[in-house]
Amino acid sequence: MKQIGVGILGFGTVGAGVADGLLRHREVMSHRLGVDIVLKKIADLDITTPRGITVDTSILTTDAQSTIADEQIDIIVETIGGTGIAKKFVLDALNAKKCVVTANKKLLAEFGQEIFDTAQKNGVDIYFGASVGGGIPIIRVLREGLAGNNIESIHGILNGTCNYILTRMENEGLAFDEVLKDAQKLGYAEANPSLDIDGFDTAHKACILAALAYGFQPKLADVQVEGIRNLAGEDVKYAAHFGYRIKLLACVAKCGDEVEVGVHPTLVPQTHMLYNVNDAFNAAMVKGDMSDYTMYYGRGAGREPTASTVVGDIGDIARNIASGQARYIRAVPQYSEGKIKLRPAGEISSRFYVRFLVEDKAGAFGTIASILGQHSVSISAASQQSGSIGNQPVPVVVLTHEAKTSDLEKALSEIEQSGVIGAKPVKLRMI
Ligand code: HSE
Repeated sequence: MKQIGVGILGFGTVGAGVADGLLRHREVMSHRLGVDIVLKKIADLDITTPRGITVDTSILTTDAQSTIADEQIDIIVETIGGTGIAKKFVLDALNAKKCVVTANKKLLAEFGQEIFDTAQKNGVDIYFGASVGGGIPIIRVLREGLAGNNIESIHGILNGTCNYILTRMENEGLAFDEVLKDAQKLGYAEANPSLDIDGFDTAHKACILAALAYGFQPKLADVQVEGIRNLAGEDVKYAAHFGYRIKLLACVAKCGDEVEVGVHPTLVPQTHMLYNVNDAFNAAMVKGDMSDYTMYYGRGAGREPTASTVVGDIGDIARNIASGQARYIRAVPQYSEGKIKLRPAGEISSRFYVRFLVEDKAGAFGTIASILGQHSVSISAASQQSGSIGNQPVPVVVLTHEAKTSDLEKALSEIEQSGVIGAKPVKLRMI
């Protein structure tokens, strides 16, 4: 049976999971793929700290370049993360005509075009299945299963850390900070948890999905990104009162020649399939013009689920190499150059949840309703959450019908100036 050599760069959480998977499942993979995948080298600056797996120490090295150059290695797996040395090694490996597998969403979101072009120039594959959705093969779905569709929209819960935090905030009434610590202990969070809780990890993934769906990768700086760091427990509670859960949603959708790409804490109704995606689980709901809605659910973070997808990618490449087929599979579609633009945030229409802190005086709510109406924002439901005590301002929650973001923003700034509210209103999107 033909042997295919693999070198792993980065022996951290995911790298160790990939090594473990390749070693434990070598036999089953050979039966499945008809090729023997052999782990030849693992490179990391630290090769002494125990990783909880048994590997032959002779394959450990601190020299990544010699791993890339090794003639017995066909596939380089990058599990270093970030955009520093990881980028250099990925480009070096592609230029050395090695196929590359990476789970590095930040790298692809920021430098995807350069990396995909380098793969194409060298006629080698780059696979990145675990960069979005961890153990869910959503990338493969868009590349293959739904390749015959025009993708209308993708809505995803794509960050396990945030979903875990939101679930525990709702179920246990806990504060945000308390739960973040637990997510870090469980190994869900990024080394820099700001990437998770400020929404950037989800935004990286949304950019990759946009590239796969539309051949259009927006600049990260242009994408609207809201995280959950400042989400108040009371909004989680009020959302529940109306029958909704707050989820950090990535939204990628086509609207004519424009694509909406954004990340927002969003109220999801009980009737929606994403409502019951809880804890560290991820899900993506994709609407294709032929397939209609399809949904993919699974573990989006953690060592084994992420490694599962990386090992699956390695298997696919190994099979391609062994069968002698052309080795380059187009990483992302290339049909939209210059034709598709990012939809300006203000143009996006959505339903909204708005919480006002309203002065408890006659006509205050009337003023709010009237200003909303003047800006074409129609109220679908409203609730004053408690009676006032000694003329204290009271929280009033308004759910709107679909409205243009810029219209709502104009209305809210007018309401702030009208003197009937005691604090900046909280605005959240609804699906
Ligand atoms: N920190 C990420 C998450 C890991 O929480 O989902 C997977 O990308």
